[in-house]
Amino acid sequence: MSIIQIITVVGNLAIGLWSAPAPPTAGAGNPSLSTVPSKPIAAHVVAKAALAMPADEVTKETCASCHEDQVASFDRSEHNVAMGGGSECSSCHGDATAHIEAGGSAETMVNPKKDLTVKAADKVCLTCHEKTGEQMHAKLSEHSRAGVGCVDCHSVHPSAKEAVTAQKSGHGTMMPDGTDACVKCHSNIAAEFAMPSRHRLSEGAMSCSSCHNVHGSENARQVRNEGKEQCLTCHTDKRGPFMFEHEAGNLDGCTACHAPHGSAGNHMLKMRDARSLCISCHSKEMGKGVPHGRASSTTMGDCQRCHSAIHGSNVDPFLLH
Ligand code: HEC
Ligand code: HEC
Ligand code: HEC
Ligand code: HEC
Ligand code: HEC
Ligand code: HEC
Ligand code: HEC
Ligand code: HEC
Ligand code: HEC
Ligand code: HEC
Repeated sequence: MSIIQIITVVGNLAIGLWSAPAPPTAGAGNPSLSTVPSKPIAAHVVAKAALAMPADEVTKETCASCHEDQVASFDRSEHNVAMGGGSECSSCHGDATAHIEAGGSAETMVNPKKDLTVKAADKVCLTCHEKTGEQMHAKLSEHSRAGVGCVDCHSVHPSAKEAVTAQKSGHGTMMPDGTDACVKCHSNIAAEFAMPSRHRLSEGAMSCSSCHNVHGSENARQVRNEGKEQCLTCHTDKRGPFMFEHEAGNLDGCTACHAPHGSAGNHMLKMRDARSLCISCHSKEMGKGVPHGRASSTTMGDCQRCHSAIHGSNVDPFLLH
């Protein structure tokens, strides 16, 4: 049985119990709870959120008497407005009955980050967010698979400092701030954007999210659109249609020749020497009637000296102009 299956099974159990007049208090007062895996609690929270059960009688004002800071931070977030109602805390922390009865203790309450697996914690968020489009593929995203969860990037309890930063940058308080949030893990990509020829990301011309959906996509590398379509969203002049296309781009997309982030070659070409790039595919001896051999002296310098319509031409099959 996979963890998911276990959760589902236990979850169904919890759903069954839920209809009972007194809600089950998973592990209430059970001193061994902190030492056992928190799966039953996971199911408890997930099942509740999934059913969109009416929230507990307990409102956030009750919580505030002991958790002033967390209520204040929650109130700074967009969830405060989006969820509304007063008893929102339970959407992520589950039923608080046992917690209140016990006068508050770590054992009687679920902290998604500490007590749940990344997948189970994400599931809590996805009960509301899965259908909104952007997060549609989140369960299969590279991030999810690698154990990077929603709350690794989003602060659902934003600090006062985060709120100030958010206001300055003009994004929501729960949002990661700029590309620093990405390159702290993807430092190699930051290096690519520092190459001599590169997209102007650091100048703010675009962000990682211009091309990637970090919540996962149907395309490789979590790129938003398939193949060259991603590039054509901005480089519309390269779309054509051309009478004579360069097949290279049709087969492998723009990244057959270009590095998407930056490179040491001119024009973000994958190889520093453009000629070598051409020859990497055009390795066969050229056909009859062609005025140059593969490595003849005629072709010294960049091939696009003559083949200047390298992306496609409407007049010349040999992409000469
Ligand atoms: C959208 C989901 C969500 C909502 C709604 C939410 N929380 Fe949390 N809460 C979390 C997550 C995730 C963590 C752990 C990570 C963190 O602190 O950001 C957490 C952590 C906590 C902690 C533990 C903090 C610590 O440092 O040990 C408390 C206490 C808490 N929340 C109380 C509340 C209260 C009270 C409310 C309602 C006003 C609330 N939460 C609403 C998701 C949520
Ligand atoms: C009577 C005081 C009191 C009230 C009321 C109270 N709590 Fe707590 N809560 C505590 C104490 C004490 C802890 C344990 C803190 C610790 O161990 O650091 C705790 C811990 C937590 C944790 C962290 C659990 C963990 O595993 O780290 C969360 C989340 C939490 N409470 C949420 C809530 C929510 C939501 C409410 C309102 C529905 C609430 N609490 C109401 C006293 C209270
Ligand atoms: C690797 C970091 C990262 C992870 C993991 C992540 N997000 Fe995001 N999220 C972002 C960034 C960056 C944006 C802003 C994207 C943009 O500007 O288009 C965003 C935007 C959002 C938005 C608002 C935009 C919209 O229209 O949907 C929501 C809601 C959201 N994320 C929820 C989630 C949920 C739920 C999860 C977990 C399943 C999650 N995120 C996981 C980085 C992350
Ligand atoms: C009970 C439903 C519910 C749950 C559970 C929930 N959210 Fe949300 N969230 C909303 C709603 C409603 C909005 C506002 C509309 C929207 O942007 O989709 C929102 C908005 C957001 C935003 C965008 C804020 C902005 O600046 O526009 C982020 C990011 C986000 N949620 C992250 C999370 C994360 C992370 C979790 C899990 C820890 C989570 N949410 C759990 C309902 C929920
Ligand atoms: C907590 C660390 C962490 C953060 C923060 C993070 N990532 Fe990732 N990311 C990973 C891991 C781990 C993988 C799994 C594959 C890998 O190792 O590259 C991954 C995978 C990816 C992939 C797919 C790579 C592939 O080979 O398929 C892309 C694209 C990506 N991240 C972009 C982003 C962007 C954009 C951000 C900022 C919004 C971001 N990441 C934030 C850790 C992180
Ligand atoms: C102009 C579009 C674009 C932007 C902006 C962009 N990427 Fe990419 N990224 C791509 C494409 C396309 C690929 C796939 C390349 C391939 O398959 O050869 C990719 C691949 C990746 C990979 C997979 C590993 C690799 O090197 O191939 C990671 C990780 C990644 N990007 C992270 C990021 C991060 C982090 C940012 C922001 C700092 C970012 N990307 C900005 C288009 C972009
Ligand atoms: C969000 C819009 C956007 C997307 C998406 C985008 N680009 Fe660009 N690209 C630009 C802008 C703007 C420039 C001009 C940058 C400058 O002047 O420094 C540029 C410049 C370039 C250059 C010329 C660099 C030079 O030094 O001459 C190449 C090559 C390029 N992009 C390839 C790509 C490829 C390949 C993709 C898809 C992986 C892509 N672009 C996706 C906006 C975009
Ligand atoms: C067969 C290899 C190849 C493919 C495929 C390719 N390019 Fe290029 N690209 C080049 C070469 C070579 C140059 C440099 C041209 C020069 O020296 O004048 C270039 C230059 C560029 C430039 C900068 C100069 C200009 O013409 O604007 C942009 C932008 C660009 N390419 C975008 C794209 C996009 C977008 C795609 C996919 C639709 C793509 N390229 C596919 C080889 C290619
Ligand atoms: C990723 C592989 C690849 C790369 C790199 C590449 N090409 Fe091509 N090119 C092709 C394919 C495939 C065709 C279609 C005809 C064929 O099979 O030879 C083609 C066709 C051509 C043609 C038209 C000839 C005809 O018979 O249709 C010219 C001219 C050409 N390429 C020049 C270049 C130049 C110059 C470069 C370097 C800037 C280059 N190519 C880079 C794959 C590539
Ligand atoms: C001095 C100008 C010039 C240079 C430099 C040049 N070519 Fe050509 N190329 C041509 C001409 C002219 C043709 C054929 C036109 C005709 O037959 O009418 C041609 C034809 C081709 C063809 C079609 C061959 C076939 O078998 O169908 C390919 C592929 C090609 N060149 C690739 C390259 C590559 C790769 C380079 C760089 C190593 C290069 N060319 C450099 C002028 C040039």
